[in-house]
Amino acid sequence: MNVILLGYMGSGKSFIGQELSKTLQMPFIDFDGFIEENERSTINEIFDTKGEIYFRKIEHHYLKALLNKSTNSIIALGGGTPCYYDNMQIIKSRENTKVIYINVSVAELSKRLLKEKQARPLLKYVSSIDDMEEFVGKHLFERINFYNQADIIINGNNSPEKIIEEIV
Ligand code: S3P
Repeated sequence: MNVILLGYMGSGKSFIGQELSKTLQMPFIDFDGFIEENERSTINEIFDTKGEIYFRKIEHHYLKALLNKSTNSIIALGGGTPCYYDNMQIIKSRENTKVIYINVSVAELSKRLLKEKQARPLLKYVSSIDDMEEFVGKHLFERINFYNQADIIINGNNSPEKIIEEIV
């Protein structure tokens, strides 16, 4: 079975995915990392040199490529992956796959993202906690209908241990 983790930037998809991979003894794939390896470029560089529209196009392409070849893996997607093209349909139509949304509050996401915004091109111009909360609140509102299509919604404000336990 594949386990696909969705959620906004900073929701802990990669961290939870890595921990889950140890617990369940299943390989972990970080989708942003998969794109970076294949493009031989960082996500930041891709946004800087080619722009977001190009990124969304290759993200769509690599999503299909990854899902076609992966079996029995834990996959952490990028925060925007389910929200462009028919990506969510593609994700949900995979056989033998559980799609999990890690749902974290705007306040908690904003706090985390202010500390770790360097690797995230979309947050380049957001620099105070108030601006971050405003940005994340609006952006999450646009995305929530995609995330809510997951099979399972987990409260990501809980501790990592509790999150892993619930997923298992
Ligand atoms: C994005 C999230 C990022 C990365 C890119 C765009 C988004 O992944 O794919 O910067 O649109 O939310 P993380 O959710 O792993 O930060």
